[in-house]
Amino acid sequence: MMNCSKRMEFEAKYEVWVKYINDALSGIITENETPAKSIYSAMRYSLMAGGKRIRPVLSLAVCEMLGGKIEDILPYACAIEMIHTYSLIHDDLPAMDNDDFRRGKPTNHKVYGEARAILAGDGLLTYAFELMTGSMLDALNNGTADIDSLKRRIQAVYYIARAAGVSGMIGGQVVDIESVDMIIEPEVHEFMNRCKTGALIKAAIMVPVIITGQDKDVMDCLEKYSDSIGLAFQVKDDILDSEGSMELLGKRTGRDVQEKRSTSVTLHGLDEAKNKLDCLIREGIAGLERFGEKADFLRCLALYIKDREK
Ligand code: IPE
Ligand code: IPE
Ligand code: MG
Ligand code: MG
Ligand code: MG
Repeated sequence: MMNCSKRMEFEAKYEVWVKYINDALSGIITENETPAKSIYSAMRYSLMAGGKRIRPVLSLAVCEMLGGKIEDILPYACAIEMIHTYSLIHDDLPAMDNDDFRRGKPTNHKVYGEARAILAGDGLLTYAFELMTGSMLDALNNGTADIDSLKRRIQAVYYIARAAGVSGMIGGQVVDIESVDMIIEPEVHEFMNRCKTGALIKAAIMVPVIITGQDKDVMDCLEKYSDSIGLAFQVKDDILDSEGSMELLGKRTGRDVQEKRSTSVTLHGLDEAKNKLDCLIREGIAGLERFGEKADFLRCLALYIKDREK
């Protein structure tokens, strides 16, 4: 489906964007010498530990495809990555998934202790909203955004808040912890995955759609793409827990079975999970048809989600 040169182009571009995002994130949360310095270290420790940055890369890629300005999207892309990192810090806590490794390093609570890991997560979540609303105030004060553009930015922050909160990630996480050592209905399982993982991935894609002010047809197509790849991302995560390698993933594998979690693999088996993944990726790519070649990066990204080893 995707020829070799397109794949190489995709990989090169992905790398450039990861560097761009890492530089931006690194400049946002910096070490300091205030009495509260340990919280900055703890936040930075997880934020700069080397995640794949798939969510902010998606935001930038969609923005570029739609002809938007990358610098307008950057604060939202960074905010989404900060919210995602916070979700990982809390997800790893002993009271939740009780995991010791993340992004190739000991988890935040293993280094900074549980109390500070909770605060580091809270700090990243709150900072995300500081970053987005701060950039809106700057745009207002500089006169670089008119009222319609500011309205769209408010809509974007609202979209992200819903994706991160009880209607999204938190909602999914609560179903997850309540499903340990239980057989749950397929509909409940899909709800959980769409919320805990799909929602933030969808927000990463929809934020540039909202900010660049697209029509309903574009919105519908990218919603279809994001619904499919957002869910696919968690199915693949579950598959990797079963057959991936700790060296590549940077987190321990086999934990879902050990901790009796309800995942696509523990509930339905590896073969069914792989079939579901194929199907979702095909559906996601189908949503991109109207964009022609301009969507090649997003097509490659969908295939990367399917084939990734980390
Ligand atoms: C892991 O997310 C947790 C899930 C939502 C499945 P990623 O696989 O994107 O983790 P990083 O950001 O690359 O570390
Ligand atoms: C994580 O799902 C979803 C989050 C919102 C953090 P998992 O618990 O499966 O993610 P990993 O496997 O720990 O990265
Ligand atoms: Mg979890
Ligand atoms: Mg986990
Ligand atoms: Mg997992």
